[in-house]
Amino acid sequence: MVTFAKDFKFGVATSAYQIEGAVAENGRTPSIWDTFCRTPGNVFEGQTGDITCDHYHRYREDVGILRELGIDSYRFSISWSRVFPAYGVYDPKGMEFYRNLIRELKQNGIEPMVTLYHWDLPMWAYERGAWLNRESVTWFKEYATRVFEELSDSVKLWITHNEPFCASILGYDLGVHAPGHKNLGEALIAAHHILLSHGVAVEAFRECGFKDSKIGITLNLTPSYPASNSREDVEAASRSDGLSNRWFLDPVFRSSYPEDMKEALGRFAGGFDFIKDGDLQTISASNDFLGVNYYTRSLVKYVQDGVLNYQEVPGDSRNTTAMGWEICPEALYDLMLRLRREYTRVPIYITENGAAFDDALASDGHVHDTERIDYVKRHLRKIAEANEQGADIRGYYLWSLLDNFEWGYGYSRKFGIVHVDFETQERSLKDSALWYRDMISSRTIE
Ligand code: FCB
Repeated sequence: MVTFAKDFKFGVATSAYQIEGAVAENGRTPSIWDTFCRTPGNVFEGQTGDITCDHYHRYREDVGILRELGIDSYRFSISWSRVFPAYGVYDPKGMEFYRNLIRELKQNGIEPMVTLYHWDLPMWAYERGAWLNRESVTWFKEYATRVFEELSDSVKLWITHNEPFCASILGYDLGVHAPGHKNLGEALIAAHHILLSHGVAVEAFRECGFKDSKIGITLNLTPSYPASNSREDVEAASRSDGLSNRWFLDPVFRSSYPEDMKEALGRFAGGFDFIKDGDLQTISASNDFLGVNYYTRSLVKYVQDGVLNYQEVPGDSRNTTAMGWEICPEALYDLMLRLRREYTRVPIYITENGAAFDDALASDGHVHDTERIDYVKRHLRKIAEANEQGADIRGYYLWSLLDNFEWGYGYSRKFGIVHVDFETQERSLKDSALWYRDMISSRTIE
């Protein structure tokens, strides 16, 4: 049996574009995701976040569900183009929704955790060069500072960016996320400016002088393991780790980019002249905590071609989620101890962990998602174990509250502990939601 401390936060996580809908209401202007979805071939069956869970209109009902489940803390993100619908223009109408949501959360005793950027860059920023333009750092600072000022009396937990790896590599190199570019050099520039904007936002936050508020960044970390013990595979795993993890952890915690990766990536990055004096000091501004999103590990082998001469190979195929991601809680445990050992002693929040499965409503009207319960249980056990070894993990946010718009996969992948009927918008608690509720109330896992 494992037991969690009274002040360990059990949460759930969502993001604006994936659940809000109401994309043209109260002055909101399009983001790169609205545009990306409209290009045929980008998203499964041409689906969009236009309506999705309609959370914008149903947030009271959704907060009611959070209360019913006994959730301690709710992580959500703000849509930048709701609050800054045009370049340099702040719109209080857009902010109103978040004020109402936060008020509702507080009235129900639920602590908000706010992410500023979960990938929905305003189109006005895209038209000015997006993250490839160094000025994006200033736009983000202006946005962040305004949100801090407006919401700081009620929000104490802040995250600047969600998963800079995905925003840069998936969006600018692989082209599978907005804005859909395919250029590794651009991805490295975008990553740098995103990280720099994190550092600048943290500085702005410190200048505001909030006493009891905390700020950090969320990185998605995917531990890489070699497919064999051969030297080639071991080195391949190190390069995969270099791009997925170290390229983001090193600047944030060590004030440098990893040298081996700079060497390997140099020919795409034009001599890295986008890294200016002082940038790395800014990026490594001290964080109050680190957010980690963890879903799976990667297993990697050496290949002769390709940019970094590695390729992912399937792990244990009997043990995967509907995303094809191998279920590997042990790698989360290793990761937690590695972060302590190699990078930082700040507290950690697992800001996302969860699983998609092919859920279906059973004839009794329920979703019996035992695989999801098992997934969450196994990861929570590893978190408790890591804490026993001194990892200082303070909270766990299950991805996700609701079935929602899963980016390029549209509605074909379901991560929710609450089932959503997208025709009627009816919500129903899956077995995993009921299990999570009971676990939270006992704070123990058998
Ligand atoms: C993460 C994203 C989140 C969701 C999950 C499944 O990479 O942060 O929005 O899509 O994956």
